[in-house]
Amino acid sequence: MKLFKKSLYIAAAMVVSFVSIQCKDGKKKEASTEVAKSVAKVTITKESFGTTEDNIPVDNYTLKNSNGMEVSVITYGGIIQSLKVPNKDQVIEDVVLGFNSLAQYEKPNPYFGALIGRFGNRIAKGKFSLDGKEYTLATNDGENHLHGGPEGFHRKVWSATENQTEHSASLVLTYLSKDMEEGYPGNLQVEVTYMLTDKNDLAVTYSATTDKKTVLNLTQHSYFNLSGDFSKTILDHDVTIDADKYLPVDATLIPTGELRDVTGTPFDFREAKQVGKEINSDNEQLKRGLGYDHCWVLNGKEGEIAFAASAYDKASGRMLEVYTNEPAIQFYTGNFLDGTLPSKQGGNYEHRTGFCLETQHYPDSPNQKDFPSVVLEPGQNYKSSTVFKFSVK
Ligand code: GLA
Repeated sequence: MKLFKKSLYIAAAMVVSFVSIQCKDGKKKEASTEVAKSVAKVTITKESFGTTEDNIPVDNYTLKNSNGMEVSVITYGGIIQSLKVPNKDQVIEDVVLGFNSLAQYEKPNPYFGALIGRFGNRIAKGKFSLDGKEYTLATNDGENHLHGGPEGFHRKVWSATENQTEHSASLVLTYLSKDMEEGYPGNLQVEVTYMLTDKNDLAVTYSATTDKKTVLNLTQHSYFNLSGDFSKTILDHDVTIDADKYLPVDATLIPTGELRDVTGTPFDFREAKQVGKEINSDNEQLKRGLGYDHCWVLNGKEGEIAFAASAYDKASGRMLEVYTNEPAIQFYTGNFLDGTLPSKQGGNYEHRTGFCLETQHYPDSPNQKDFPSVVLEPGQNYKSSTVFKFSVK
């Protein structure tokens, strides 16, 4: 069977070169491109992305599908370093913020493209208790703990293996987080798979096991700008979020515990709405977040993969839909970007030039008994799935 497929490819490739040699006018050239397209296939390439300050080698894996869409993931932080997606005219451009060098990722930065662990978003005052025992985490966001701490998963070098089928390319990243790393109990074995398919889906699947009772809330922190032009803000993107409720926060961005109805507020994204439409309204929650930086409680049933949110950039025609089995999504509009970090495209990342849609459990869950549990026990298998689905319209 394999041999048969191989000879088919060789035969098709021969047709392409034959047609191209014969081509003299534009019309015939078009035909050859079409043939070439039909033999384009999934590929995975690996190259060095340099070494860390501690001299650990870092690789950059590029998964490419047969439509020319590609994602580059570096083993440092499991970071999506670039994500190249076609627009409505088939022009393929990068739609995620990030850097060109490893050194820049090692400097303080707002988690561009990174895997976040052990805990997405904030834990109040860096403290929580399990079975009467109190755990203390680093406070790296004022008085709170944020995104797993200063040495969270976004700064670890992950082991990688690649996997390829006819219609998909995957990268499987693994990491063993030792007992009490960043203050969290349990040796935690984590596996994250990025899978790019020929349907232009990028699926991110997380699994983990522990040898001691612990808490866990993994997510992906890509900043999208669907225009492909990082000098533009994302304020004209149309966003929908399938949520009737969101979590209001206190002055330090910790959820108050209330699940608030979005109806009649700037937080209502049940119908597509431009991000910029109400972002500067006179609203206490928007002032606290300096824009949108909140967790929406998804309408889908917990545990089942369902539509969560979408973003659409009319000019490029690019559409992103997010599906997840997580109960919530953090919508963050790049409010802390302030023009100090260098863009991959030259210049700097200005205010609100990227947005994040971080699928997750609710922030501060370990301290809020009415929020869905984030406890992981020995013998249980943590499973979380998110699909970023790209199309044009
Ligand atoms: C998250 C948080 C924001 C901010 C960014 C990173 O999305 O909710 O408040 O910390 O990460 O800068």
